[in-house]
Amino acid sequence: MIKQAIIPLAGLGTRLLPLTSVFAKELLPINGKPGIEYILDECIEAGIKEVVFIISKKKQMIKNYFYNDKFYKKIIKKKKDPRIIKEYKKILKYKKMIRFVYQNKPLGTGDAVLKTQKFIKDKFFLMLLPDDLIIKKNCSKSMINIHNRYKSSVMASMNVKKNTVSRWGIFKLSKKLDKINYLVKDVVEKPSINNAPSNKAVIGRYILPKKIFSKLSKQKPGKGGEIHITDAIQSLIYENNKFVAHIFSGKYLDCGSMNGYIKSSLEIAKL
Ligand code: UTP
Repeated sequence: MIKQAIIPLAGLGTRLLPLTSVFAKELLPINGKPGIEYILDECIEAGIKEVVFIISKKKQMIKNYFYNDKFYKKIIKKKKDPRIIKEYKKILKYKKMIRFVYQNKPLGTGDAVLKTQKFIKDKFFLMLLPDDLIIKKNCSKSMINIHNRYKSSVMASMNVKKNTVSRWGIFKLSKKLDKINYLVKDVVEKPSINNAPSNKAVIGRYILPKKIFSKLSKQKPGKGGEIHITDAIQSLIYENNKFVAHIFSGKYLDCGSMNGYIKSSLEIAKL
């Protein structure tokens, strides 16, 4: 069973500047609720019991958001507002399941993942990239079912338009397991239209094996001088570790770019 999840939150959020110059993007409201709460709700509904947040000193406000008890207690004592009491109880529920670890230099997603090594107990864990919201169907829950069925690592995927492949990590697939699940042969970062092995893109939900840590600890920086999680995944695939690409059926919202962030509130308001 997958019981632990990790969430990298230590990036700079430059695509959302100026909103992110003093504010953590994961706390920005999406239709009146911080983005990170959608991610936590997805985890809880998928049966996750512990979530490790990778933050940095610059993102300390994320920890403060969950550790503001004195403030809430004082306000609740004075106002006894049922809405505030309900919201505080929700924060307390989240807080109970969150552990924090620090990545003070944004050296890449792979480096962020490596920081969680000491917390991970089981053979597999879930990773969610909080910029990628998936609504209407719980993607993590579906992926955990796939993991249980195939005893494999799993990555979320969706079909993208051929002329946009160069914006994504694109799967090279080896075998169709069923209508929505494929065995992964390779992941190609941002290929040109002519070189793209498929139109199936990697989206920010992963079930990864614990052994990825030993790969990451030896990994040299890749493209742009960063330590990428995809490079470690690739070397595991080359060593015949089974990775399944799961075409999820929910709706994807990209909250990491300004256009996507604005659109995501509108989409969620329609639900
Ligand atoms: P991105 O590179 O897509 O987002 O990282 P970013 O760095 O936050 O924002 P931009 O690109 O500057 O606008 C994907 C996820 O990985 C985390 C980010 O916080 C984001 O959730 N991340 C990235 C880390 O935790 N550490 C890193 O070193 C890099």
